[in-house]
Amino acid sequence: MSQSLFLRTLSSETLPKPPLWMMRQAGRYLPEYRELRAKAGGFLELCYNPDMAAEVTLQPIRRFGFDAAILFSDILVIPHALGQKLWFAQGEGPRLEPVADESRFGEIREEIDPDVLAPVYETVRRVKAALPAGTALIGFCGAPWTVATYMVAGRGTPDQGPAKDLFQRDPALFARLIDRLVVNSADYLNAQISAGVDVVQIFDSWAGSLGPDDFKRWCIEPTQRIVDLVRVRHPQAKIIGFPRGAGTGIPDYVRGTGIDAVGLETEIDRDFVRKAIQTLVPVQGHLDPQVLRAGGPELDREIAAIRAAFGAGPFVFNLGHGILPDTPIAHVERLVELVRA
Ligand code: CP3
Repeated sequence: MSQSLFLRTLSSETLPKPPLWMMRQAGRYLPEYRELRAKAGGFLELCYNPDMAAEVTLQPIRRFGFDAAILFSDILVIPHALGQKLWFAQGEGPRLEPVADESRFGEIREEIDPDVLAPVYETVRRVKAALPAGTALIGFCGAPWTVATYMVAGRGTPDQGPAKDLFQRDPALFARLIDRLVVNSADYLNAQISAGVDVVQIFDSWAGSLGPDDFKRWCIEPTQRIVDLVRVRHPQAKIIGFPRGAGTGIPDYVRGTGIDAVGLETEIDRDFVRKAIQTLVPVQGHLDPQVLRAGGPELDREIAAIRAAFGAGPFVFNLGHGILPDTPIAHVERLVELVRA
């Protein structure tokens, strides 16, 4: 079978038209997702039901023919499998019982409970069997820093204050939490690859909230350890890093972690990307999800500008962050049409 365009790009080939997928491409902007989500009852029930999770993963592939599918799951299944209570309150995002001191940390498991994550690997096997040839399958985990911000605060936070408080107050405890996430996230990615994913992406959504020293300590180094642990088991695996908001710190992140490709946030300077990042690794990004939602001539202009900026090197077209739930489907269709044109 000929290699998918997406995998060829991750191997540093420059193609005439970039491969395309979208972060959060399975989700609430799709009526067929909302229907299944209502049937499942809860979001976690959907993640842990291989039939439904596989179906949701395939929905955007059927509708838009993207070059890659991304496993339907969530970064917070790792804390959940480590025994932390997790629930999704309607309209409020994720909630966890905070782990912010020694005694709460003591209640967290050393290793993930394999029974919790077994349905995720079953989803991978089913999706893999159903995908058209040439469509790659992406697995993922959250980076330790980003997952820790949710574990410590018990919810999403605007400034990651509780996690920052903890690493200032008790850096040794925070380091043990990060270490636990490194080892278990690597195991989780290795199991996804063994089950059939072609590529994994490490989401560090809050990488941009740390100064340079903390970025190195809590984002680059833990991610590098995950990359090493995955490469020991799966030397050929392609690994994409997404240190959202890291900006001018991205070249250090790329060199320090050894990842194969990097996702770009919307805000980053395109000349900087061309000169300082795309010379190191293939890049992926970075259409503003709000521009996609708004549509119209601005959407057409931005798609053309991004293709012009990055098309001369290895490049995967994507968004700078997840698609917004109220994005019209016609705008996604326009995106596909223009990227394929
Ligand atoms: O990209 C995909 O389509 C694959 C599935 C995926 C989800 N979450 C599904 C989801 C992926 C890759 C994620 C990653 C994720 N989850 C991140 C990192 C990327 C990012 O967006 O920054 C983070 C920080 C989380 C944690 C999380 N999960 C939050 C903050 C929320 C609530 C925000 C929201 O959009 O509601 C979730 C819930 C979630 N994860 C939904 C989906 C489709 C919505 C839940 C629903 O359907 O009710």
